[in-house]
Amino acid sequence: MQERSSVAELAGILRTELNRYSPGEKLPSSRALVDRYRVSPVTVSRALAALRAEGLVVTRPGAGAFRAARPRAAEAPRPGDTSWQEVALSVETSGESVPRSVDASGVLMTLAVPPPGALELHGGYLHPSLQPERALAAALARAGRRPGAWDRPPIDGLSELRAWFAAEIGGRAGALAPSEVLITAGGQSALTTALRALAPPGAPVLVESPTYPGALAAARAFGLRPVPVPVDADGVRTDLLEQALRATGARVFLCQPLFQNPTGAVLSAERRREVLRVAREAGAFVIEDDFARRLAHEDAGPLPATLAADDPDGVVVHVCSLTKVTSASLRVGALAARGPALERLRAIQVVDSFFVPRPLQEAALELVGSPAWPRHLRTVAAELRARREALATGVRRDLPELALRHVPPGGFHLWLRLPDGADEAALTAAALRAGVSVAPGRPYFCAEPPAPHLRLGFASAAGAGELAEGLRRLRLACDEVLR
Ligand SMILES: Cc1ncc(COP(=O)(O)O)c(C=O)c1O
Repeated sequence: MQERSSVAELAGILRTELNRYSPGEKLPSSRALVDRYRVSPVTVSRALAALRAEGLVVTRPGAGAFRAARPRAAEAPRPGDTSWQEVALSVETSGESVPRSVDASGVLMTLAVPPPGALELHGGYLHPSLQPERALAAALARAGRRPGAWDRPPIDGLSELRAWFAAEIGGRAGALAPSEVLITAGGQSALTTALRALAPPGAPVLVESPTYPGALAAARAFGLRPVPVPVDADGVRTDLLEQALRATGARVFLCQPLFQNPTGAVLSAERRREVLRVAREAGAFVIEDDFARRLAHEDAGPLPATLAADDPDGVVVHVCSLTKVTSASLRVGALAARGPALERLRAIQVVDSFFVPRPLQEAALELVGSPAWPRHLRTVAAELRARREALATGVRRDLPELALRHVPPGGFHLWLRLPDGADEAALTAAALRAGVSVAPGRPYFCAEPPAPHLRLGFASAAGAGELAEGLRRLRLACDEVLR
């Protein structure tokens, strides 16, 4: 975050200073800029790259940076008339009832960057200080030197990477073969592929309530109709799941059995069996979104196996990803399935995007095979536990009107129940004015929410200091809105 703002700042300064140089004149060396503005060489090179992209500066390898001889003339763009697109994008040419507009807000919410100065307690990825930046850089460098790194990868993914995911998903018993795994561009892509593969447009799909808004957005984008099934502290209510399968005839249930987003719930052993039983009896698939397995906190204890490991019959289509425990940009994940469903998934993926870029797959493989990997997982587990404790303690002490009913031993979030009648939107807006961004509960429900909620994240803040300050600012917002 800091790096990004210092790049913009330095580019702004250099843009103004360029007037002091005549066209073609050499600018101070990178080292001189580093010394003069007390920034890192990376900041200097990114700021120069920004000016180069604007046509204000040219760089010559070995010679340095120069003011561009003739700054690109600003062309006055002809004002176009795009109103015809409103008709073209919406007109129905067939009897299909699938809405053509796509609401991306559920996904954009996950990716939103808070305004300058605001603390981020809404994010769904690790703060840069928790990302394995060095190990990632080293993995990427090693990957780049691998023979054939820029060749086309096998369509389904690198075989060693598929084998690694198969072992992770199938567990010690080896319940899954590498040939049953496809490499995907992260979890979101795997989810969208699975939803499209398993249900036709217009079909109902059962989802946990509350659930990840990005999954709701993906389902709706394909014309699927999400139907909510409530979650409690033991995961999805399987009695209601069975009823919903019967009532809707749905053939897909989207489930997060481990550290569910947003509640943090873990599906109990008894309900795991029930989910598989009722799905099997209904002839329905279970999409298992196992996004948080590597986000178990230090005190989580042994984790349950994946649902996929207990399912030889191809009921479960498993989704997982490396982004959450590394960086949102390491967009490498996996889909695991058995039977004809695997063929359907494979076909959709290759038609949509061919394959995941090989250098990224090679880098992922380098990373998970390096000695830094287990160290990183241990660091994340310890840090997440410490941050969760700091946030939970702070909430209970300073925000007693926000009910924290469950403190999950995994994942990134606390799910807080607001007092009846509280205005979530007003509270999140007031929080932002006070300088902290938090997520309202509404987007996590696909139908009417039973109560107002707030989701607070502890992984996207810089540390305990920021969490404490974030809570202080949230207190101000609560004083303004809840009293
Ligand atoms: C529950 C859940 N599943 C899947 C994803 C997708 O993550 P990615 O595409 O980065 O793997 C997210 C991201 O927030 C999530 O919260």
